[in-house]
Amino acid sequence: MKKIVILISGRGSNMEALIAARDAGNLPVNLAAVISNRPDAKGLETAAKAGIATHYIDHKAFAGREAFDAALAECIDGFVPDLVVLAGFMRILSEGFVRHYEGRLMNIHPSLLPSFPGLHTHQRALEEGVRIHGCTVHFVTPTLDHGPVIIQAAVPVLDGDDEGALSARVLRQEHLIYPQAVRWFAEGRLTLDGARVRLSAELDDRAAFISPLLR
Ligand code: GAR
Repeated sequence: MKKIVILISGRGSNMEALIAARDAGNLPVNLAAVISNRPDAKGLETAAKAGIATHYIDHKAFAGREAFDAALAECIDGFVPDLVVLAGFMRILSEGFVRHYEGRLMNIHPSLLPSFPGLHTHQRALEEGVRIHGCTVHFVTPTLDHGPVIIQAAVPVLDGDDEGALSARVLRQEHLIYPQAVRWFAEGRLTLDGARVRLSAELDDRAAFISPLLR
């Protein structure tokens, strides 16, 4: 079974979706540890209650990004994970860190990348007046919120939406696509072909996440 380390910074609802999928028997992985850069991250409690090892490494205790990233990598590598999952981990990672985990570092971002990298994605989508918004799971490269896309889910932007309504609609999709992406990785179905991610067989899986918008 593939071993996974999850990195969080706060609420941890995407982490919870992964735990729930595992508990439901839909995600055959070993969730080895949850690590936060914030000692007060709510998700740490949730992970501990689920019986998962938790750690925090406070970035404020380090002189710079490289020193923090080195300590973080040391902690992660202690678990010898096959995959590191960023689930609301709100830190920019150094190039050395990202290269160390090349092909085994995944992130979820609350927009249809490459639109709206960075922060406040829902507010910016509303300000731009886009009619379709969504979320993306991708392999991480040194450029922020960038890298080969594994899966995306789209939602409509409705008249009368505010940031809360739109972010809640997107978050429901995040909780579906992240377990799906990790499952594909665990099953060994994801391969990198240049900048593109190929999914072996059963391509219908991906279509399933396009259709809700069309229904
Ligand atoms: C999620 O919406 C995730 O996509 C976003 O932070 C939120 C974390 O929520 N991540 C980023 O913006 C990364 N660039 P959660 O802690 O409840 O999973």
